[in-house]
Amino acid sequence: MSISIFEEGILEGKDMLSTKNLTRHEIELIFNVARQMKSELTNNCDLLRHKILLTFFFEPSTRTRLSFETAMQRLGGSVISVPTAAVSRSNDQIAETIENTARTIQSYADVVVVRHLVDGSSARFAEHCDIPVINAGDGDNEHPTQALLDMYTIMEERGSLDGLKILMIGDMKFRAKHSLGYALSKYNDVQVYLLSPENLRLPIREREEFDRLGLRYEEITKVEDVISELNAIYIHPTGRARSEVSQDDTYRVSLNTIKNAEKDILVLHPLPRFDELSTNIDSTPHAKYFDQVFNGVLIRMALLALLLGKA
Ligand code: CP
Repeated sequence: MSISIFEEGILEGKDMLSTKNLTRHEIELIFNVARQMKSELTNNCDLLRHKILLTFFFEPSTRTRLSFETAMQRLGGSVISVPTAAVSRSNDQIAETIENTARTIQSYADVVVVRHLVDGSSARFAEHCDIPVINAGDGDNEHPTQALLDMYTIMEERGSLDGLKILMIGDMKFRAKHSLGYALSKYNDVQVYLLSPENLRLPIREREEFDRLGLRYEEITKVEDVISELNAIYIHPTGRARSEVSQDDTYRVSLNTIKNAEKDILVLHPLPRFDELSTNIDSTPHAKYFDQVFNGVLIRMALLALLLGKA
């Protein structure tokens, strides 16, 4: 396989901990490589032959872990996995520290994907580890690869992220929404609307970061106020106060919610879903959540190739 990118090495050896410091140029490089990866899905590609990916998940995951593992195998590499902290020494009576674990695993793999329940844990991992560390979600902080695949999905549909008007609904403490906001701040004329219950509003730390990065965002109280101008809705279940939120239709999306929207409005959801997103959207062209799942493999293939210096 040959990837036709002419800026070899700009992400080589780097960690992927956050979207805050990614440039627009780097984001679009990842998208360009992801686009080329589509043809490698069925090509017996050996781009990452002899490379080993370690997936270390201290929290449950279906999509993130499996898509990274698929991505590595599609590129001819191999995978070792700690699919749950319960089978590692991080979760027994010794409770081995992140620092010790990080120093250890660099002897076993060429790149590691980490999900952890503590904010900032991926960065701590990276500080003590000489191989690239990819943050697969750290507490309420960030989930950068989810944001990249979300944006890639919108990009493939709209052809551009500039001028995007997107509504984020639900728990604004949710990490992928933070990463998405940071990454969207690199694009021109983006308008983000936020709709969440009082107790799940955007935390002060992320508010300050959105402001620092110059993201234009506004909190609203009902979808009807903005529905006609939206290009996309991004909805997510609430881990906290789920029953409270799910009983309130304000924070649910169904065909009825988008009846006054532009006919090409996109509905995105990182999955898994609870009952905040009606299945009556699934068979319409608005539903992009299973495209997001598919695109997650391409984005993660691209990231692995770029961080390992093969694209
Ligand atoms: N979207 C997402 O992060 O899904 P998982 O929790 O299944 O990895």
